[in-house]
Amino acid sequence: MTGRPAWRWLLLFSLWLASGASRAANEPDVADAGWTESPAPPDAPWTADAGAAVAPPGPEGAGAAAAGEADAKSPAAQQAETCAECHEDLAGAFGKNIHAKTGHYGMPGRCESCHPGAALHAESGDRSKVVNPAKVDAAESSASCLACHGRDRGHTWWRGSSHARREVGCVSCHAVHEGGSRQLRGATEGAVCFRCHLDVRADLLKRSRHPLRDSALAWGEGKMTCSSCHNPHGGRARALIDAASINDKCYQCHFEKRAPVLWEHSPVKEDCLVCHTAHGSSNDKLLTTRIPRLCQECHMQGRHQSGSLATRSVFALNRSCLNCHPQVHGSNNPSGTVLQR
Ligand code: HEC
Ligand code: HEC
Ligand code: HEC
Ligand code: HEC
Ligand code: HEC
Ligand code: HEC
Ligand code: HEC
Ligand code: HEC
Ligand code: HEC
Ligand code: HEC
Repeated sequence: MTGRPAWRWLLLFSLWLASGASRAANEPDVADAGWTESPAPPDAPWTADAGAAVAPPGPEGAGAAAAGEADAKSPAAQQAETCAECHEDLAGAFGKNIHAKTGHYGMPGRCESCHPGAALHAESGDRSKVVNPAKVDAAESSASCLACHGRDRGHTWWRGSSHARREVGCVSCHAVHEGGSRQLRGATEGAVCFRCHLDVRADLLKRSRHPLRDSALAWGEGKMTCSSCHNPHGGRARALIDAASINDKCYQCHFEKRAPVLWEHSPVKEDCLVCHTAHGSSNDKLLTTRIPRLCQECHMQGRHQSGSLATRSVFALNRSCLNCHPQVHGSNNPSGTVLQR
């Protein structure tokens, strides 16, 4: 094996030296770039128009921002300090809030982004100058949150959703300062929803139900939550269901019901809720009605299925229809035409 000629090693060595020198020359540039907050990633979805969407509302806000840039402290930290003079506890606790870190996402993170007029208020101490999102109407306070959250994946269907239409705003469910997990206004998700949806709470006391009772309660199960099926921020299907259709949602967990079958029972593929309720029922297996009546709502052909079965009829006894037609969701047996096997 012949080595490389000595002149080539020399050339490589001098190239390396030169690049080392330029590395050293570059270092101070990085150090005095003067970033006070982490820069936004270049493709952060907000950077394009974040300025327009969440600009501080008045000249006083813009002034504070400019002053902050000249200083070592971020504008966010500076403003929080001003507020702390009179709102010590609240401003102190804010350091741990995810919203104190919005700079990392390339957004402004001042108290002002949710409290327009805050700077004017801080100068005067006049509470009427600052907006409290809990005291303005739902559309206005939600708009201030949507300035940053409007593009979150989960919020695509917020506008026109049943909550937005009925003036249930972000602050009905979220408490930014004292909220728990996900800044929710309640110890658990259920506790948030049950403030308004008492009928659903009642359903969870019924005999058959989805295992939804909050694990925080003594009688809790805590295996799933309301948002296992619903997106409270809006959904594609009716009733804020977070899937293309209600059946698609059910298939996500009961996937064996999705499989194609040789002998379909047509209502099953059409809508599970023809026979089942979603939350809870006094009938077995979340059924809307007891069997045989459930089956007889549709099957009145006038043979053994028909309406006035004698009490001791073999066709009405016990779970009656299901004794002979157990494959109610469809059959894969070549001779399962009447769902009997
Ligand atoms: C000079 C003292 C002072 C400073 C500084 C101050 N506040 Fe206040 N703020 C008050 C007082 C007093 C109230 C009324 C409190 C009450 O009634 O409980 C108040 C109330 C508020 C309210 C509730 C208004 C309402 O109508 O419910 C908000 C929001 C608020 N301040 C935000 C801020 C922010 C943000 C800052 C920093 C930019 C700030 N404050 C700085 C004194 C101050
Ligand atoms: C992400 C939005 C957001 C940011 C940022 C924010 N707040 Fe708030 N603030 C709210 C909301 C929403 C309320 C309404 C009260 C509630 O939801 O419990 C509120 C209420 C308040 C109140 C009235 C408290 C009361 O109990 O009546 C004060 C004072 C306040 N904020 C001060 C501040 C200060 C100071 C900062 C910055 C350190 C700040 N806020 C940052 C959203 C925000
Ligand atoms: C200045 C931009 C900005 C504003 C205004 C804003 N947020 Fe946020 N918020 C963020 C960022 C950034 C995060 C962290 C990233 C994320 O979870 O999307 C966040 C996170 C959250 C979270 C998730 C917390 C968690 O533990 O996962 C909730 C809930 C939330 N915000 C609610 C609100 C509400 C309610 C308002 C209006 C009162 C609001 N935000 C206003 C920027 C903002
Ligand atoms: C009806 C109650 C309700 C309303 C109204 C509501 N939220 Fe939520 N939000 C929730 C629940 C519950 C979660 C937790 C979902 C989870 O854990 O998957 C959540 C989660 C979030 C999160 C965390 C990320 C995510 O999507 O899971 C953000 C951010 C958020 N909400 C912002 C908002 C904003 C902004 C508004 C107003 C436009 C709003 N929310 C209105 C109940 C609500
Ligand atoms: C502040 C009260 C309030 C809270 C809290 C609340 N909701 Fe609602 N919700 C409403 C109102 C009002 C409607 C509209 C009812 C109507 O139109 O009949 C509604 C409607 C709904 C609907 C039916 C939508 C439809 O189109 O039929 C669902 C599902 C729902 N809420 C789920 C939830 C969940 C899940 C939570 C908790 C994360 C929650 N809600 C918290 C007030 C609330
Ligand atoms: C297994 C999925 C699932 C879970 C989990 C679930 N829901 Fe529902 N929910 C549905 C379906 C499906 C509908 C539509 C019912 C209909 O259209 O007949 C619905 C309808 C609703 C409605 C409107 C009709 C009514 O009954 O008032 C509300 C409100 C509601 N759900 C709230 C909740 C709350 C609160 C929770 C958590 C305690 C919850 N849901 C958990 C599937 C679910
Ligand atoms: C997030 C997962 C999930 C989704 C989505 C879901 N389920 Fe369930 N379902 C469960 C769990 C968990 C059980 C309880 C199983 C157990 O106890 O063994 C259950 C049980 C049931 C039962 C039997 C109840 C009983 O008393 O034994 C029926 C019927 C049912 N689900 C129907 C539905 C329908 C209809 C939908 C769509 C609206 C649906 N499920 C969506 C998880 C889910
Ligand atoms: C024609 C009425 C009907 C329709 C439609 C229907 N079911 Fe059922 N389902 C029943 C009956 C009846 C039972 C009780 C069976 C038993 O006890 O053996 C049942 C039981 C169940 C059970 C619990 C026992 C098991 O088989 O795992 C689940 C889960 C279930 N159904 C899910 C669904 C889903 C998901 C859909 C929609 C794809 C659906 N059902 C549509 C009638 C129906
Ligand atoms: C929402 C209406 C509806 C309900 C409720 C219903 N079915 Fe059906 N069922 C149908 C339809 C539609 C067909 C298809 C009829 C056809 O193809 O002629 C069918 C077909 C059948 C068949 C096969 C008949 C054949 O000729 O292929 C049997 C068996 C059956 N159902 C039993 C039941 C039982 C048992 C129940 C109660 C657990 C029930 N059905 C509930 C609508 C319903
Ligand atoms: C003792 C067993 C048995 C019971 C109980 C029973 N069936 Fe059947 N069913 C059959 C048999 C076997 C067939 C197929 C032979 C036939 O067509 O008569 C059938 C056929 C059917 C058909 C197909 C259409 C038709 O007329 O042929 C439907 C629909 C049906 N049953 C519904 C029901 C309903 C609803 C109940 C409950 C009220 C029920 N069955 C109870 C045994 C039973």
